[in-house]
Amino acid sequence: MASVPSLASNVQQRLADALTAALPGAGSADPLLRRSDRADFQANGILALAKQLKGNPRDLAMKVVAALPTDGGDLLREVEVSGPGFLNVTVSDAAIVRTLAARAADDRLGVPYASAAGTTVVDYAQPNVAKEMHVGHLRSAVIGAAMVEILEFTGEQVVRRHHIGDWGTQFGMLIQYLLEHPHELDHEHAEGEQAGEEAMSSLNRLYKASRKLFDADEEFKARSRDRVVALQSGDPETLALWQRFVDESKIYFYSVFDKLDMEIEDPDIVGESGYNDMLAETCRILEESGVAVRSEGALCVFFDDVKGPDGNPTPLIVQKANGGFGYAATDLSAIRDRVQKLGASTLLYVVDARQALHFKMVFETARRAGWLNDEVTAVQLAFGTVLGADGKPFKTREGETVRLVDLLDEAVERATAVVREKAEKVGLSEQEIVENGRYVGIGAIKYADLSTSAVRDYKFDLDQMVSLNGDTSVYLQYAYARIRSILRKAGDVRPVAHPELELHPAERALGLHLDQFGEVIAEVAAEYEPHKLAAYLYQLASHLTTFYDKCQVLSAENPAELVENRLFLVDLTGRTLHQGMALLGIRTPERL
Ligand code: ARG
Repeated sequence: MASVPSLASNVQQRLADALTAALPGAGSADPLLRRSDRADFQANGILALAKQLKGNPRDLAMKVVAALPTDGGDLLREVEVSGPGFLNVTVSDAAIVRTLAARAADDRLGVPYASAAGTTVVDYAQPNVAKEMHVGHLRSAVIGAAMVEILEFTGEQVVRRHHIGDWGTQFGMLIQYLLEHPHELDHEHAEGEQAGEEAMSSLNRLYKASRKLFDADEEFKARSRDRVVALQSGDPETLALWQRFVDESKIYFYSVFDKLDMEIEDPDIVGESGYNDMLAETCRILEESGVAVRSEGALCVFFDDVKGPDGNPTPLIVQKANGGFGYAATDLSAIRDRVQKLGASTLLYVVDARQALHFKMVFETARRAGWLNDEVTAVQLAFGTVLGADGKPFKTREGETVRLVDLLDEAVERATAVVREKAEKVGLSEQEIVENGRYVGIGAIKYADLSTSAVRDYKFDLDQMVSLNGDTSVYLQYAYARIRSILRKAGDVRPVAHPELELHPAERALGLHLDQFGEVIAEVAAEYEPHKLAAYLYQLASHLTTFYDKCQVLSAENPAELVENRLFLVDLTGRTLHQGMALLGIRTPERL
């Protein structure tokens, strides 16, 4: 089914037509329609137009109102000139219900596809091999996964890329150690979560042991350095051991992503090592084109506005003086791959804000090299730091980085307790309690992350996250479960839209908010701001609460059409909540 225009866009169109008819000099002026507290909508566009036409804005506004078709009653109930020349617009109840009914008839809830869809490569969920995952990796995974879903929903072609840290000097040490202690990575073969934990604990053990030896034994250090050279030159034995580290780490990553209720696919994991074959060529192109220059032996790119504390320019180092390649060379090669092989029109990097300078320099270099331009752009969706209750970067009491799995387990544990409290009343089985506890706990963590603007730091506060009141996923999940319960109770009575009925103000408010879903999705996709979807859903649940408060749904006193129409609103709200939460990666259990 084709997309269904929103009520707002219908009103906008109606006003734009009247503007053109009343004010021939106006061209295709924008009435600038917004939702408003005064009426349903307010249009402010005539103010700017009056300046341009050198007229009195109120007079012009009157003319526009006069030019509206007199049969406006099907869409507009009242258009009134107010203040210096605003239009306050009230739509008819019938128009609200009719528009919503058209949206409800569509699987996509009438959400339009983006007018100019392209291919976006999303770089997200990028942990590092042989290292424990921490809260920073949570943010990239959660925000990135939401953006992937939202973009795909608008019709964008999305390629996922997990740029894992699987290359670099520390592997020389790890591989050398494994070579000298061949059984260190062996462990029992378990499945799922257990396998993930075992894999991580042997990696950890190995990492610590090799680090200890590296620091204490000069000869081992030298052998480790040679091992890096062997790795980078593709020595088969070295590569095979390196592969074991990667494979073990993947077992662990998958177990964490599984806990996060998130799907990561193997072909999308293209880590730093995946660009190894391109590094030399990337450097050659940059050097030959003059984008990069040799400075003290290193291959560097300089920027006028990037200087160190001493005032000297800080270059982006593409190749070190000893010939080694680092993070910049890999990222530049990844850009070439994504643009030239994957055909990307947009590159989106969901990465910690503390890497902003790196990406600024990498993107600018790619632009100078011609890999990025007006048609092919790169954006960092930068996110802030997760803070502890004390407002400092989240650490354990011992000052260590908090393991992501521990946080997830604790959230699920707390959420399960919350679910269990109400379980008896709802009649949940033990299996449902466990399952819901997981959906609520993981949802709480994801929602807390997604409901503040990404670039801001936020406090990791589990008590707040699993609270039933306030802006939490649990609140939204309960709103959804309540909707499902009403629909079950309604039995054979089905939701049916009745545009002939007069609406209660609480029904109008809910209906007008439902109408905005498509526009919110479009904005969130264009601006990479998932928190605006979270805010929209929270407001939706709040409108629903007010509606329940004021309007009985299944009352024996209600005429049949009224029950059907209210069920219709409830049902569409449920479907919108479900769709919106799914885009954020959060489950909505049927019973809670
Ligand atoms: N692995 C990196 C980290 O843990 C993030 C990678 C970000 N992506 C990229 N293309 N550089 O910090």
